[in-house]
Amino acid sequence: MSRTIEITKIRRFSGEISVPGDKSISHRALLLAAIAPGTSRVNGLATGLDILATRQAIQRLGAVVTRISETELDIEGREGSGNLQEPDEPINCLNSGTSVRLLSGLVAGAPFLSVLTGDRSLRSRPMLRIVEPLRRMGASIMGRQEGNCLPLCIHGEKSLTPTDFRLSVASAQVKSAILLAGLSANGETSVTEPFQTRDHTENMLEAAGISIKRTGFMVSLSGPSHPIPINWKIPGDASAAAFFVVGAAIHPGSSLIVRDVSLNPTRTAFLEVLRMMGAEIEVLERAVVFGEPVGTIRVNGCRLKGISIGRERVSLIIDELPILAVAMALAEGTSLVEGAEELRRKESDRIQSLVCEFRKFGLGADEHPGGFSIAGLGRPIAPPFSDAHGDHRIGMSLAILGTAAEGTTIIREAQWIDVSFPGFEALLRRVSI
Ligand code: S3P
Repeated sequence: MSRTIEITKIRRFSGEISVPGDKSISHRALLLAAIAPGTSRVNGLATGLDILATRQAIQRLGAVVTRISETELDIEGREGSGNLQEPDEPINCLNSGTSVRLLSGLVAGAPFLSVLTGDRSLRSRPMLRIVEPLRRMGASIMGRQEGNCLPLCIHGEKSLTPTDFRLSVASAQVKSAILLAGLSANGETSVTEPFQTRDHTENMLEAAGISIKRTGFMVSLSGPSHPIPINWKIPGDASAAAFFVVGAAIHPGSSLIVRDVSLNPTRTAFLEVLRMMGAEIEVLERAVVFGEPVGTIRVNGCRLKGISIGRERVSLIIDELPILAVAMALAEGTSLVEGAEELRRKESDRIQSLVCEFRKFGLGADEHPGGFSIAGLGRPIAPPFSDAHGDHRIGMSLAILGTAAEGTTIIREAQWIDVSFPGFEALLRRVSI
């Protein structure tokens, strides 16, 4: 159902929060549990609709899911993709790119037909990046536009051919799809990325007993193999925390603590960017849970300065660029983001959505083919309406911008936020002063 949120200007952010479980880790915990023989427990699961999509998908594939609480599940898995069960209807991945791409890798090793589809946004996102390597490994895949668009019909093979794949786009989803398929291949499967991306699949496979080789940007594993059941404990989502970290950073006088959040270095590069912009950020505690660093972040608000971000940094802040753009708009000096064309292939064309919405607030923003520039020292004025563009991260970024804008920011179609962060609005009100 369509929902609107209204945000007014605040003085600062204050308090202590925790955020929902990490979305990337939650997807992987569910998928690995589905192919682990025996019962896995997932504790601290992300609550958004994307995770619901993966949860329903593994049930359709024969995993037995028992709900203990909203964020805790028991999952009885099958021994490897080859023992999954043919779904008797299409699997709807809703808005979730991670669900559909990682599942494709999983069912590539399942000897039956799986049909994968999603909502309008997901049906328009590129899939050849996974279809090509999975075809090369022996899966038969048909889909709209020669296999580039959902729905995809995947007929897997119990025994796939190992591959050595060099990615042209830095993508953790593609890397993970190939590694998951590699579990069903007879021999060594390797993936080489142009830049480092998040490494949860590697960490979690290792924690579940699979040996992973990492050499520079190359990752390999040997199949056939399957993970063992694990009691996963999922840390808070750093990308969800980023909205509040930036919110506090842009309001001088703020002091905010975010507890139990993932500090995986492939996810926290946005903290480095904010520090380079002059933000005061401290990491207070650290622990390592199943190979994933976890801790507490404290952020104090102060004046920020603009920054230039090049391609080499983009893959590690890809999900945080929309909210970093809000920090750039309020910082002193021009900011520039380059080499970020992948932003155009997310839940919306994020370069276009951001520039379009920022201009409505009277901010100086320009679109480039591979990024954007932002004038800085903006004095945002709430427009009559602002639009989430069907994109959770755009919706939340605009809400944080609204806390610094004159007037009342009205965000239409704000229900999209529930894709990754139900409860975002209530949490925002709780820390706003
Ligand atoms: C994700 C990888 C990223 C990211 C997405 C989640 C993952 O996508 O944008 O939100 O969990 O692997 P790409 O790997 O396609 O860039």
